[in-house]
Amino acid sequence: MKPPKSARVRGLSLVRRGVRHGSVAPVAVEPVGRWSEPRFLAECERRWAGDLPIVLPGAVAPSLQRWRREIEAALDLFERARDGESFESMLHERLDPRRFAAAGATIDAGDTRELEKVFVHALSKRRTVARDLYAKLSWIAHDERDSSLRIRFSFGSEALLDWQKETRRAPWSEAFAAAAFPECAAITGRRPLVALVERLIGTAPRFSERIIYNNAPGGGAHFHHDDEEHQLGVLFSQLEGETAWFALPKRQLAEFVAEFARGSLARRAGTAHKALRALDDTGDEELSRLLNSTPQFTRALAEVGTCFHLRAGDSILLPTHGPDDTCWHAIYALGARPSFAHSYGIFAARRPVKRSGPGARARTR
Ligand SMILES: [Fe+2]
Repeated sequence: MKPPKSARVRGLSLVRRGVRHGSVAPVAVEPVGRWSEPRFLAECERRWAGDLPIVLPGAVAPSLQRWRREIEAALDLFERARDGESFESMLHERLDPRRFAAAGATIDAGDTRELEKVFVHALSKRRTVARDLYAKLSWIAHDERDSSLRIRFSFGSEALLDWQKETRRAPWSEAFAAAAFPECAAITGRRPLVALVERLIGTAPRFSERIIYNNAPGGGAHFHHDDEEHQLGVLFSQLEGETAWFALPKRQLAEFVAEFARGSLARRAGTAHKALRALDDTGDEELSRLLNSTPQFTRALAEVGTCFHLRAGDSILLPTHGPDDTCWHAIYALGARPSFAHSYGIFAARRPVKRSGPGARARTR
């Protein structure tokens, strides 16, 4: 994962939700050569164990041409959704009613980001085999300057965290995502990539809780983690356009926060240990300002090699081994038009979860 000496890296100009962070230099990462090369595998294992992101340039590039039409159709769906067209109708146009029966749509009045949640029941031989699978279309941010959209595929009750408790409907939810957005196969059909994930988690993976992203210029995601019960990591693949990523272990981020914290924030997060706990408080506005809207902080993070540039065909893996041992990340949209990406939660195909991969550590929760 070391930058090749000859590589030239273009500076990236970062603007998100009205904040200009300036120009940063991303880490230059060599394209994946031979997936079975021992040095490459050892480096991936080292990074996975250390909660470091693994950037895989060109990981899904060979599949892009095959799925070009579907990718353009998905970009078109997002544009039409922005223009106010019904997500429910657009989704059903893409589905075979013999496989996925319409089961209504809702809008959560309590969540201003949610646009539409469309439910289906999965059918097999005319019988219902999985109820209440859903695709939820939402804005990514509460901020009007950010028109990024996303679609999350899951099932059951969101409030009761059914997706964490139950595994039976997960494969049906994945099938629903793949039926609506067939370019899922550009990722799940890339055998070397799937084999790498299997090696890293030490067991056969399933790619669930799929999210389809349409990051719009001036938008992106604030710093967050995806450490959830039974989730072992994230696989994000850029299928069109580009994004800038900041990705680093939570413990390293906490050290940075401690160094930059001033005033009252220094009392809560002035040491790495305190900052580690402060990061757990998602309602800390002062800390959020430092993490997400302080150009000096952003540029300092880039200087220590935590910024990565993802282009169409690239993937990034984000490991998680527990609440404090997880890869935090933030995203900036790049380019003149909304981009397109698929992000999948990595889970063990079979529970109980065997945390015996190279990166295994005891969970701290
Ligand atoms: Fe994430």
